[in-house]
Amino acid sequence: MGKLVRVGLIGCGTVGQGVVRLLHAEGAEIERKTGLRLELVRVADKDPAQARKAGVPEERITADAGAVIEDQDISVVVELVGGTGAAKDFVVQSLRAGKDVVTANKALLARFGREIHSTARANRRCVAFEASCGGGIPLILPLRTGLIANRISAVYGILNGTCNYILTEMSQKGKSYAEALKEAQASGYAEPDPTLDVSGGDTAHKLAILASIAFGCDVDIDRLHVEGIQELDAQDLAAGRELGYVCKLLGIAARTDAGLSLRVHPSFVRKDHPLASTSGSFNAISVYGNWVGHTLYYGRGAGSKPTASAVVADLVDVGLGNAGRTFEQFRILNDVTEPPLYASMDGLRTRFYVRLMVADRPGVMAQIAKAFGDKDISLRAVTQHEPNLTNGSDAVPVVVLTHEAVEGHMREALREIAGLAIVRDKPVMIRVVEEHEEYTA
Ligand code: HSE
Repeated sequence: MGKLVRVGLIGCGTVGQGVVRLLHAEGAEIERKTGLRLELVRVADKDPAQARKAGVPEERITADAGAVIEDQDISVVVELVGGTGAAKDFVVQSLRAGKDVVTANKALLARFGREIHSTARANRRCVAFEASCGGGIPLILPLRTGLIANRISAVYGILNGTCNYILTEMSQKGKSYAEALKEAQASGYAEPDPTLDVSGGDTAHKLAILASIAFGCDVDIDRLHVEGIQELDAQDLAAGRELGYVCKLLGIAARTDAGLSLRVHPSFVRKDHPLASTSGSFNAISVYGNWVGHTLYYGRGAGSKPTASAVVADLVDVGLGNAGRTFEQFRILNDVTEPPLYASMDGLRTRFYVRLMVADRPGVMAQIAKAFGDKDISLRAVTQHEPNLTNGSDAVPVVVLTHEAVEGHMREALREIAGLAIVRDKPVMIRVVEEHEEYTA
């Protein structure tokens, strides 16, 4: 018989039920492969019906998380409550009670990672969190061990399936943001309240965690530049497509001469970019190391079964002692690392897509070109289609793609352009993200 690992679960919603089912279905095979018998001793959910739904025997179900935390038989607590309220208490109390913790809670680790890790360290316990980023995609493991020989130069990720689904629908089917969101909700890809996803907040949480480990620094989530997808207009996705670009919500963490650039924003990538073909609810993450070069991770970033797969992988890692060993010995978690130097958004050098709604009159293009030229912004492509004379407006869209320029200069140019009498609407600006250079210093 394999080594027994007694597990308690707090939170038996979608992912928790997946964990219960996975252990039931695969436990024997996992034991055969790993020599570990993962036994689910107790399951807490404030709605016990959830645990029943997953087939947990009645005597193992409780509505009281404390009953899991205080159970002397349990050595590992899986926290799948989510959020930074009660979940934080459950995690801290479990660590103090001498239990290792496995969690999928990105918000908790992004905001309170330092406190959680230092509590674990003080109690000679560990926290494993593979499921917090990229759902079922093993991402923390390569950053923690497989790529440890490298200095990481950048992480580029499609880290939110909800946003990627919506953008794919808008891009491929020409749907409006509102239509695509509604459909995503109807198909279960988006939450009834999708704010955390569509605002870029969820991507920011995951990026902060990944960047902390990849760059070995204590990232402050509030220092990330975060833009969501709510304001995107399908006409820009169509215009970008015409020019050979696909729009993705990217989380980007990159070493630059000015410091660590940490940002989440809608991005146009060329259609042959490694992340461009990640469609629907899938996630994909590129990690660039100075020895390995480009590595790419792809898969389902959410959902009951994929996320359960990551949680159970962590249980094995904890049961084997690997998670504890690396937790204790490696200096990569934010309780033992320093804050990075943050690069400012104003200093960012990137290419831009800009759409202006302008009056169709002589001299308009000259005024626009001058405003960009005055700020040292070089235009790479300019497109103006025939005006739509049937909609009663004298405004036509002019789409501009720039060469690489400084973001602060672009903001100044757009402020100036927005004030011109010939400009009818607020300019739209979307950053164009080129493929990262594989080997950088
Ligand atoms: N809501 C997230 C997504 C999954 O849509 O990808 C959990 O982080």
